[in-house]
Amino acid sequence: MKILVTGGAGYIGSHTVLSLLNNDFDVIVYDNLSNANIESIRRVENLTGKKVSFIKGDIQDKATLTKVFSEFVIDAVIHFAALKAVGESSTLPLKYYQNNVHGTLNLLEVMMAFRVYDFIFSSSATVYGGENVVPYEETMPLGEASSPYGASKVMIERALKDLAQANSEFRAVCLRYFNPIGAHESGDIGEDPKGIPNNLLPYVAQVAVGKRESLQVFGNDYSTQDGTCERDYLHVMDLAEGHVSAVNWLKKNSSFTGVEAFNLGTGRAISVLEIINAFEQACQQKIPYHFAPRRYGDLPAFWANAEKANKQLGWKATRNISQMMADTWRWQSNNPQGYPN
Ligand code: NAD
Ligand code: UD1
Repeated sequence: MKILVTGGAGYIGSHTVLSLLNNDFDVIVYDNLSNANIESIRRVENLTGKKVSFIKGDIQDKATLTKVFSEFVIDAVIHFAALKAVGESSTLPLKYYQNNVHGTLNLLEVMMAFRVYDFIFSSSATVYGGENVVPYEETMPLGEASSPYGASKVMIERALKDLAQANSEFRAVCLRYFNPIGAHESGDIGEDPKGIPNNLLPYVAQVAVGKRESLQVFGNDYSTQDGTCERDYLHVMDLAEGHVSAVNWLKKNSSFTGVEAFNLGTGRAISVLEIINAFEQACQQKIPYHFAPRRYGDLPAFWANAEKANKQLGWKATRNISQMMADTWRWQSNNPQGYPN
């Protein structure tokens, strides 16, 4: 089975490509490398001993997409390609709508033209917004997204529903990720943010390796156990395996049409201070941190009800927090500057 993976050179994409190859899928990666390094794919090839077809291309470029779909017989698409910096999306909303929404519509149009109907979409817990009560369940209505980035995910989920209504052959799975962290256990591939990291774990790891001085903990006056925000962190390899489960589920359920959403999380939330503590255990050193004001848009706590993925996809996150920390540290200490340029 041949799978086109857009954004496959990025953080979650590269780990998923590795899992797909280890499960005997053929993979074509389509990535414009705007937030990735081709070295991730080379390392995935080394780790698996298998080849990946790589095309440098943009999802906004219909001509190149069309060429790819005419050259390869593609069975399914896993769509990671997107811009994901929440803060930047508020200052550059049109860039985010153009890249994420328009790019996805382009991709879907080309898929329809080539009669490729199986689609797996990288959605996010952010689609639940701030209105729903935790833990989030797939039956809940989509919330009011707090950023253009979040809104782009809500819009795409809606577009997928409308497409499925209009075309009875189209089948989509929306995987709503909670907070992916960690790295492949080899320490050869991992998260390599450009510039100052926006997310917690890459920042903590860069402090540990001496690249940044001190971590700012955004808010210690939330109504949580220790006053800091709580999130449902899951290992990126568990998340990668969730994609393999979703592909297999589509394959097995040949009569399914429409759109189905699944939460991918552990079902447990832990705080920023607990993360710092766990990371200190993994790297055997103190992480300098200080409390700073709350970050705009942050919710106090959210986590997944992950039962639907367990029951229907047969998927469950199995790696614990110490594995997530140990693997993050292995990647960061082996590659203090990220991938070589
Ligand atoms: P990433 O930035 O590492 O990966 C995205 C990849 O897409 C990059 O390789 C980038 O070069 C590529 N890309 C971006 N725009 C493109 C375009 N126009 N054409 C072709 N390629 C393009 O991010 P990630 O963390 O691996 O996230 C993957 C997906 O998962 C994204 O859709 C993101 O919104 C979603 N997601 C991520 C998280 C998270 O915490 N990392 C949480 C929820 C959802
Ligand atoms: C953020 C995005 C979310 C996106 C997700 C994955 C916001 C408001 N939300 O989620 O839409 O889907 O990333 O890309 O940006 N923290 C610190 N110090 C730091 C960094 C983070 O204390 O330097 C705290 C945050 O306040 C938060 C927790 O760590 O409580 C996790 O933050 P982060 O990794 O950015 O994830 P989310 O905020 O859950």
